[in-house]
Amino acid sequence: MKLVHTIQELQAALNAMRAQGKTIGLVPTMGALHAGHASLVKRCVAENDVAVVSVFVNPTQFNDQNDLLKYPRTLEADCRLLEGEGAAFVFAPSVEEMYPEADTRRFSYAPLDTVMEGIHRPGHFNGVCQIVSKLFDAVKPDRAYFGEKDFQQLAIIREMVRQMHYPLEIVGCPIVREADGLALSSRNARLSEAERATALNISRALFRSLDFARDHTLAETKRFVEESIAAVDGLRLEYFEIVDGRTLQAVSSWDDTDYIVGCITVYCGDVRLIDNIKYKESIK
Ligand code: PAF
Repeated sequence: MKLVHTIQELQAALNAMRAQGKTIGLVPTMGALHAGHASLVKRCVAENDVAVVSVFVNPTQFNDQNDLLKYPRTLEADCRLLEGEGAAFVFAPSVEEMYPEADTRRFSYAPLDTVMEGIHRPGHFNGVCQIVSKLFDAVKPDRAYFGEKDFQQLAIIREMVRQMHYPLEIVGCPIVREADGLALSSRNARLSEAERATALNISRALFRSLDFARDHTLAETKRFVEESIAAVDGLRLEYFEIVDGRTLQAVSSWDDTDYIVGCITVYCGDVRLIDNIKYKESIK
């Protein structure tokens, strides 16, 4: 495995691989890697000749500077994990390498980016699209891998790829959970033991709502989740929306569409956690 810090070095290596007819997979990450990332890398390694993993804490997607400062940076440990998973390249550029000048591009994928995280984290998805498009341009992957935990991000990246005609396949990978159900997240490292136990109530509420939804309306199910979270000391609900899995617009009945997802964001102490659950999914 090779650790590279510049686009030039990365492209020189990848051009040589491409010239040999090798396929290239990309897993974009912000580091602080865990088993969720490892599952993306495993899939990337299995489906491509060359797996590239980028590790870059992208400043333009943080609307909260405190969050950016606190974001864990663990490149050495990340490299150990990636070597074990069989990645060929780790691309860990500096901020100056990715943004030699301010990126003034504006990406707008309404209505996908005007709901949920789009409301609560203004500018976040613009920053995500800035860095992901730069990574696509630098790596020119055949496939790129993203987790379904960031459900809205995945939908927006798919739309960006569609509108910008990137010649690559976006592969969405299922959420990886701890044995007790907590969705894996780099932010979990910031939870105290007590907070972690509290945070478990998020996935618990979502899973219980799956059963509840069987004989209740969508509005009742939404209220069930909202009230389950409100009942837990130490959790503060930012939003819970039950949406069409393709348009991300709120739906009002289980019969509205064949793909229905509940997306939730909850503060546990000062740690912002997101999760989601599929109520209905068609074969896409
Ligand atoms: O999901 C993430 O970790 C980030 O948003 C991404 C896609 C690596 C862009 O910085």
